[in-house]
Amino acid sequence: MSYSTQKKNGKELNRLYEDDLPIHDWYRFVLSFPPHLVKDYIIKFGIQTDQIVLDPFAGTGTTLVECKKNGIKSYGCETNPIANFASTVKTNWSISGEELLAHATSIAEIAKKNIQQNKTPKPLNEDQTKLLIANSISDLPLKKALILLEAIDSRKSSFHNHERLAFAKQLVYSYSNLKFGPEVGVSRKKKEDVDVINLWLEDIKKMVKDLKLVETHSVVDSTSLNCDARFISHTLQPNSIDCVITSPPYPNEKDYTRTTRLENVILGYIHNAEELKETKKNLLRSNTKNVYKGDADDLWVKDIQSIQDLAAQIEAKRIELNKTSGFEKLYHKVLKLYFGGMARHLMDLKPYLKDGAKLAYVVGDQASYFRIPVRTAALLGEVAESIGYTVDGIDLFRERLSTTTKSFIREEVLLLSLKK
Ligand SMILES: C[S@@+](CC[C@H](N)C(=O)[O-])C[C@H]1O[C@@H](n2cnc3c(N)ncnc32)[C@H](O)[C@@H]1O
Repeated sequence: MSYSTQKKNGKELNRLYEDDLPIHDWYRFVLSFPPHLVKDYIIKFGIQTDQIVLDPFAGTGTTLVECKKNGIKSYGCETNPIANFASTVKTNWSISGEELLAHATSIAEIAKKNIQQNKTPKPLNEDQTKLLIANSISDLPLKKALILLEAIDSRKSSFHNHERLAFAKQLVYSYSNLKFGPEVGVSRKKKEDVDVINLWLEDIKKMVKDLKLVETHSVVDSTSLNCDARFISHTLQPNSIDCVITSPPYPNEKDYTRTTRLENVILGYIHNAEELKETKKNLLRSNTKNVYKGDADDLWVKDIQSIQDLAAQIEAKRIELNKTSGFEKLYHKVLKLYFGGMARHLMDLKPYLKDGAKLAYVVGDQASYFRIPVRTAALLGEVAESIGYTVDGIDLFRERLSTTTKSFIREEVLLLSLKK
């Protein structure tokens, strides 16, 4: 494998690449896994161009993009609407870059004129405003961004989605006050004005350059499905998938809908609290902010003793520490819901896999629940074995220093296979 390695405190660490590869950075989740990891497992599993790869937790499409670059057909499954949109656009390389640039330039002119004339865009309504993280974007950049978005949406063409994706990226990384580290937060220093239109156009130019680089690769199909990995879409053919390469959420208290709230709201994928709740309900239960009455995925792991014991240990610690908040009371429950949801996913996946299919799940250990270690890959391996998969090994992907516990947290790749 091609990681750069470095010694720290006597430990050898796998370092995250600083990659700036074409297409991937059209829009990026902070939690994306690096593209080279996908490539490494394509090679390790010996995936050929007549085979099919699935990423059931596709995020913004790193696996799909890497497969397409390597001439391999792939499917992605993702429930977060903006992530699924990004994945769809990032795998559409069949448009003309020159025409995209000409189209976007004419949009930029319209938007600039509207800004100069001090036109007022349709403001966000009360429901939308309530959904946004407070101060995530200042008034003037928001006004200019809405003017640009109106211009983009008023001139729909085959470039529309690319133009919207470039907008989504700039909205988050240039126009907003958001910072990621890895939780989403708001910078103390607010951006009071931003060159909204030119930044967007620069990003379009980057897309045009990337499209040129990959123009000969656009023949392979990549399909992004808006689906819950616990109920995989029946658009997939039975016995069709050769390989799974994925990074599912893990129980680490991260709320993916918060990380992507601004763009989901402004681009019109989530309109109100009800729709946000629906989106959250379709996600695996990996944090205490998306646990709902009636959730029952935990039943899927009721017979897995190590998970039951770990959940009991977390709850006992809570009682010992006299922690009484609603979230803390849910820690032990969310752990069982998480592994139960993964069990459900692995069970649902089986009919779509070919005999001998190989699977790689990138997951991290964690210690968010009263610092009690959760060895995610090992536990997930037990879950997988209980429903008929074989554990072929656990690779170390990298280690990260936890700011809470000051210890190293392992991110690992659980390797599975399925014999039918
Ligand atoms: C660690 S991220 C994956 C990042 C991805 N590798 C990328 O390149 O962007 C996990 C993803 O799983 C998605 N997810 C969570 N629960 C899901 C479910 N039940 N079905 C499908 N996707 C889900 C989240 O929305 C998130 O995008």
